[in-house]
Amino acid sequence: MDSRPTILVLNGPNLNMLGVRQPEIYGRETLGDIEAMARERGADIGLTVDFRQTNDEGELIEWIHEARGTAEGIVINAGALTHTSVAVLDALLLCELPVIEVHLSNIYARESFRHHSYISPAARGVICGFGGRGYLYALDAMTRLIAGSED
Ligand code: DQA
Repeated sequence: MDSRPTILVLNGPNLNMLGVRQPEIYGRETLGDIEAMARERGADIGLTVDFRQTNDEGELIEWIHEARGTAEGIVINAGALTHTSVAVLDALLLCELPVIEVHLSNIYARESFRHHSYISPAARGVICGFGGRGYLYALDAMTRLIAGSED
């Protein structure tokens, strides 16, 4: 049996297009590249990484519900749903797990509609502007959160 904590890494709409999507903003890395890096980092620091992407808000919400009881934490890049979805916020609030919000780009250096995140109130912290490495920073922070060595 795998006793390593499972961290759900969730990706929302359009993130499946990384690599070809506005590379001047999001870089050339694909979501597959980021997943491979995240799995490797997880293995190094004793986490099982369950990495997923969906373009469907309902599916994202179902996955957050499932995490209650099956995962120890959630790292989420909700894509544009960050700026629109009270439903994703509510799902994150009810799951009662540590949540870390990630964005590849620095959303505060972009259009003003990206400056507001509906989901940040449910997050222990937010990492943005570091491209795919942001997911690795989030996993590092998550190990400390679930070990109780950081609050
Ligand atoms: C994003 C930033 C969002 O504003 C945008 O809608 C995305 C990606 C990021 O990772 O930088 O889809 O979450």
